[in-house]
Amino acid sequence: MTLLQQIAKSPGGLGTIQLRPFPSTTNNSSFRPSGGPGAFLSAAVSQPENGADGQTTDTSASAGNEEAAKFSHIPVMAADIIELLAAAPAASSDDVPVFVDATLGGGGHAEALLDTVEHCRLIGLDRDETALAAATSRLSRFGDRFESHHVRFDRIDEVVEPGTTAGVLFDLGVSSHHLDVAARGFSFRNDGPLDMRMDRSDSLSAHDVVNTYDQKHLAAILRRNADERFAGRIAGAIVAARPIDGTIRLAEVVTGAIPAPALRNNRQPAARTFQALRIEVNSELDLLEPGLRVAIDSLATGGRIAVLSYHSGEDRIVKGVLRDESRVGPATRPDLPPPTGVEPRLRLLFSGGRTAGEAEVAVNSRAASARLRAGERTGVTT
Ligand SMILES: C[S@@+](CC[C@H](N)C(=O)[O-])C[C@H]1O[C@@H](n2cnc3c(N)ncnc32)[C@H](O)[C@@H]1O
Repeated sequence: MTLLQQIAKSPGGLGTIQLRPFPSTTNNSSFRPSGGPGAFLSAAVSQPENGADGQTTDTSASAGNEEAAKFSHIPVMAADIIELLAAAPAASSDDVPVFVDATLGGGGHAEALLDTVEHCRLIGLDRDETALAAATSRLSRFGDRFESHHVRFDRIDEVVEPGTTAGVLFDLGVSSHHLDVAARGFSFRNDGPLDMRMDRSDSLSAHDVVNTYDQKHLAAILRRNADERFAGRIAGAIVAARPIDGTIRLAEVVTGAIPAPALRNNRQPAARTFQALRIEVNSELDLLEPGLRVAIDSLATGGRIAVLSYHSGEDRIVKGVLRDESRVGPATRPDLPPPTGVEPRLRLLFSGGRTAGEAEVAVNSRAASARLRAGERTGVTT
């Protein structure tokens, strides 16, 4: 059974079928949508109860077997993503379409794409070797149609030539696995070391940030990465409580710094601080623009980029890059065709960001904050 079939059959999935037509300028004859032409199932499956920022309340994994625990991550807006990407053609009529999943994670979106687009190839990248191992095992049934690389997405050009891909997917942020496995240090619910590195060969950890950044710097990253309104107070409390070693201790310090009235309606007062630290540790915002630009370089004419972001800081960057790449040059007047050389190399597939349907959000709280943006490469090469 394919992933999309499982989604449709799962608890919550049956009642969640939505038809969502997408604009398509190209036809890929090997694309066979299960809901009929121009329509797709909107994805939704059950999962453990999730809180804000995707932090689960499932504490069943013990420290000893956590790393070996099954990598479970429900792909967000899977049907929307597959419909968008599957419409892109191969780089040439002799080739099969080549897709890049720039954030492979558990391989959920990748599996759906490989199942749906007959004969396509998929190259999966992840900076986390645990994710790569899990996805590689899950996708082994596709043989040489799938390959994976331990490469950060701002270096897509190391694995594909410019102008050769049919589509690139970015599903940003952490996977459920990161949050579920306490030893990775992302969770404010389950005690673990202050780590938060997606790539464990990187040198900077959350422990370094929490215990060595000065108060001003800490407050600045809480504001920039998570719009934390109590950034100054939290940064002060962290500095005063040093040394801080574990995630639960950090969560206590953060909670203690937030005024009581603001705690009343906030079930997860440490969520924003954990998000901000994770983004800092992994330079997530800094890598995003170069990653998107190099992904657009990699697209063949008609190739598509789809990006799922989960908070305003990410979405601002995605929106800015896609807008910039699709903007007609400044010398153009709306009543005249654009002068040669200033046509954009991307066109937006829809305006604004798309969000997940209510039914999907009801069974996958991670989908609640998702925003999907997408573009298609024009024939312009500069
Ligand atoms: C939300 S998960 C992807 C889940 C995946 N779409 C699925 O269906 O299973 C995001 C993944 O991107 C990876 N990641 C984040 N930033 C990255 C970067 N700059 N380069 C490569 N991988 C990155 C993370 O390690 C994580 O495994």
